[in-house]
Amino acid sequence: MGRVSAVAPPWAMLAELTHSCPLHCSYCSNPVELIARDRELNTGQWVRVMEDAAAIGVVHAHLSGGEPLLRPDLTAIVAAAARAGVYTQLVTSGAGLTPARLAELAAAGLHSVQLSVQDATAAASDRIAGGRWFATKERAAALVREADLPLGLNVVLHRHNLDTVGEIIELGASWGAERVELANTQFYGWAMRNRDRLLPSRDQLRRAEETVRAWRERLAGRMELIWVVPDYFDGVAKPCMGGWGAISLTVAPDGRVLPCPGAYVLPGLAFPDVREHSLRWIWEESAAFNAYRGTAWMSGPCAGCARRDTDFGGCRCQAYALTGDAGRTDPACSLSPDHHLIQAIATGDRPGGDAGPVANRRMPRARSGHGGEGG
Ligand code: SF4
Ligand code: FES
Repeated sequence: MGRVSAVAPPWAMLAELTHSCPLHCSYCSNPVELIARDRELNTGQWVRVMEDAAAIGVVHAHLSGGEPLLRPDLTAIVAAAARAGVYTQLVTSGAGLTPARLAELAAAGLHSVQLSVQDATAAASDRIAGGRWFATKERAAALVREADLPLGLNVVLHRHNLDTVGEIIELGASWGAERVELANTQFYGWAMRNRDRLLPSRDQLRRAEETVRAWRERLAGRMELIWVVPDYFDGVAKPCMGGWGAISLTVAPDGRVLPCPGAYVLPGLAFPDVREHSLRWIWEESAAFNAYRGTAWMSGPCAGCARRDTDFGGCRCQAYALTGDAGRTDPACSLSPDHHLIQAIATGDRPGGDAGPVANRRMPRARSGHGGEGG
């Protein structure tokens, strides 16, 4: 008889198959230290990850990156997940999605596609993506609909596209999306580096939220609109990842397993590797997954707060980014002693503004010369 664990199983997994990507979005949440292609897990290792994930309870895997279509073995990974009973969603820029590739992926059991779009017009979208990709995305959306797979759009929102959120929603409807996720930028990785250029104004956010509300009524029952709330403006901490080590895990391209995709930079946590440990051990026993699990680690206002089981003290990565201590209350919360840090950023002048230099993601060179990075 198997051992009964006190730790509830995960149900979702973010599989970052590669950090390589031909686009250059300055809002990217990938870590600034991108993982080179010659350090990526191989096909057999990803197949085992899918099998192990299913065995511990994962039912849904987001196949992401970077651009997952850059992995020539993507079909084999999808097939392994399908055999193990894990639903797969491809999270893609659309670059590299041909009719043949999509047919192969669908036959292997791919469940749905989430396509990233940067803005409502080719000129604006291409400016943000750092290249002429809009037409590719439009073709990719049509292919997904022709293949009769569920299509979602994912739009990261910031000061350069919030004012056209209505047009972006119309675009989603005209491309046949079932769902449009409007995700206000989360400031990790490259997005954190470019924060001054990306932060919107409070007015922009208010107008965009009203627009989304109106469209939600107009499209009720036809298209789902998700509004991922911005972090810096309302004094409320988000229940990041549904809690640390509570429902989801992230597997990095090099096999490290993290409780969230922002955790790469957190110091003092040795993130375990799927090549050295089973996913079950990593999930249930590793120090990294237990560091901020539950509420026992909390101090400060979170420890005695009525919302601690609802928002889990907010985001550990944001607490670290802003205070240097991942164990502090998320400064996004108005009860945090560090809340003034967020207020100063949200309301302050941003001298960098649109004029400052933008940092575009760059891949480190692979030691073996393997890989096709365009960024
Ligand atoms: Fe949430 Fe902590 Fe703020 Fe309470 S003090 S609302 S638990 S972040
Ligand atoms: Fe890491 Fe929120 S992104 S805990």
